[in-house]
Formats: sequence, C-alpha cells, structure tokens
Amino acid sequence: MSIRPVEAARLAQPTMEGAGVKLHRAFGFGDPGEFDPFLLFDDFRNERPADYLRGFPWHPHRGIETITYVLAGTVAHGDSLGNTGMLGAGDVQWMTAGSGILHQEMPQGDAEGRMHGFQLWANLPSSLKMTAPRYQDVQGGDIPVTVEDDGTAVRVITGSFRGRRGPVDGIAADPLYLDVSVPPGVSHALPVDTYRRAFAYVFEGSGRFADASAPVGVLLEKEVAGREMHLRDPSGNRTLVRFGTGEEVRVTAGPEGVRFLLVAGAPIAEPVAWHGPIVMNTREELMQAMRDLQEGTFIRG
Ligand code: CO
Repeated sequence: MSIRPVEAARLAQPTMEGAGVKLHRAFGFGDPGEFDPFLLFDDFRNERPADYLRGFPWHPHRGIETITYVLAGTVAHGDSLGNTGMLGAGDVQWMTAGSGILHQEMPQGDAEGRMHGFQLWANLPSSLKMTAPRYQDVQGGDIPVTVEDDGTAVRVITGSFRGRRGPVDGIAADPLYLDVSVPPGVSHALPVDTYRRAFAYVFEGSGRFADASAPVGVLLEKEVAGREMHLRDPSGNRTLVRFGTGEEVRVTAGPEGVRFLLVAGAPIAEPVAWHGPIVMNTREELMQAMRDLQEGTFIRG
C-alpha cells in the first residue's frame, strides 16, 4: 500500500463570521482548487458564549452542501423549507443547498458555555447545482463506530470504512468523513481511495502523519511541505494537513493520543464562481442568484 505524503500543514486562522461569531478557518475563500471538492472548513469550537451567541441568522446558500458536526453544545436550526430542530453533541447535519435555501444556525452552547463543532462546505458539480434542496439530520447514536484491534476508534459519518457505511448518503462528492481517535503511541493506517483528495484536521492530542521511516518532521508554526510531519500545535489543536496521492493515510499518535477528522472526496474540477454562501460555475450564474434574492425568486418550488 502506498502511503499518502503530507503536502502541506497549517493552523486554522481566527476569523469572524455570521453576526459576529469568532471561529477558526482552516481553509476557504482561497484557491478553490486546493481541496476540491471541498471549499471551506471552519472550526467553531469556542468556550465563551459572548463569542458565538449572535450566531448565523437567516442567510442563503446555493450550489453547495454544508456539513455541520457538533461535539458539544447545541445548534438551533431553521430553514425556508419549514424544517426546525436542534443539533446536539455528536449529531451531524448534511445540508444540500442545491437551487437554494434560506436558513439560520444559532449556536447555544452547553451548561459550561462550550460550543464545539465543525462546518465543512462541499461543492456541487454543475449538473447538481440547481438540484432540489435536502437535509439529512443524523443523531450521534446512529453513527457507526468501529474499534480496531489496536484501540483506534473510527466514527463513520459518511462513506465506508472496513465495511461499515455512514448514515449520510446520496452526496454528490461521494465523500469520506471519519472522526478518528488513535491511542497513545499507536501507529495506524487508514485506507483512502486514490482518486480522492484528502485532508485531516487534528483537534486533540498530537501525532505524526506519513511514512515513519522518513526523517522526523517539523514543529508546526507555518505552512511547510514534507514527507512527514510531527504535529504539535502550540495554539491548541487546530492543525490542517493536506495529503498527496496514495492508497492510505498513516498516523502515529503522540504520548497523549491523537484525534482528527479524515475527509476525502473526488475532485469536481470545474470553474468556480463564488460569492459568500453562493458558489456557482460562472459569474452570470452568480448574478442570477443575486437577482433571484432581490426579486424573491431565490427559493424554487
Ligand atoms: Co449556512
């Protein structure tokens, strides 16, 4: 099995979104080809209600899918299709905006004030940008967990891992989305189809990715490329790792173990015209979306 090399690693950067929510962005609004089919990854883990309670009031999406994974606290959700609900710890919402939705996402935190979770944006191919909107709300208890012989635990949110399929289905990018916990000192290999673009987001502990026979890597402060990298993020576990091609991702956990998301998808390789929460192929399609918003025709059927 060929091991995927580490192409680049970097820390998520603080930014502000919605009505004034402080979060960390691992990627997004940069080169849309870098993580194709994925457009954006936000880490909204936060300990201070004042930094997130203003939330993400009503806003539109078209042409993409947004995937929200909550680790602690709750997010109250409502949308133009009439859906309302609460996403709690361990829950996942996979929202296919398609031709258009208006929704709001309001983080509420838990009793200790924690609001922890992630949001990923996946692009839709031109053939599906105007597809009917769809929500998949998944309870944490319905997400299969595989525990390997070495103690590595893998929650399968979507895609397949060791024959177990995640509960989210029918997603254009045919993605793999795993939440992986590797015990201290354990080395583990995770198969990822070679045609998929892959990244990891390390959010607890530390670890070393790629070929253990290569020279020991670099302390992570800025973007660096190399075959192997030791990840110990002094700012508190917000490290994005982009992999090159290969058949598997290999990780060796540090002394406190490591937990990370492993996300992979087939590149779409189409032109991207992007304005905020609307991502189309051409500027004309973006202008049409703006006209639709102004004229009240954004929501179809
Ligand atoms: Co949104």
